[in-house]
Amino acid sequence: MCHIHLIPFGAGRRKCPGLPLAMRMVPVMLGSLINCFDWKVEGEIAPGGLDMEDKFGITLAKLYPLHAVPTLVAS
Ligand code: HEM
Repeated sequence: MCHIHLIPFGAGRRKCPGLPLAMRMVPVMLGSLINCFDWKVEGEIAPGGLDMEDKFGITLAKLYPLHAVPTLVAS
């Protein structure tokens, strides 16, 4: 059975054994980053105006890296 959305973890007998842990921890980590910080993109970029051009390599990276600056949300 092929689960294409899990392809970042590799496949077959040597696939990532950390998959179950990562599938639980990545949403917690992402949620914490969104919840605890206000994020500002450097420069004046309109919503929807983000440059999504990519650079092909072993992994697919953004051509122009995104610089997002976090500010701690006061609790
Ligand atoms: C988002 C998180 C993670 C990603 C995307 C990821 C991705 C990968 C990939 C692509 C491989 C190579 C698979 C292959 O050769 O087919 C791998 C191997 C491995 N990963 Fe992860 N991994 C993650 C998290 C973790 C965690 C949390 C652990 C341990 C707690 C872990 C432990 C390992 C180990 C030990 C291997 C070597 C497996 C082997 O060669 O038999 N990984 N991982």
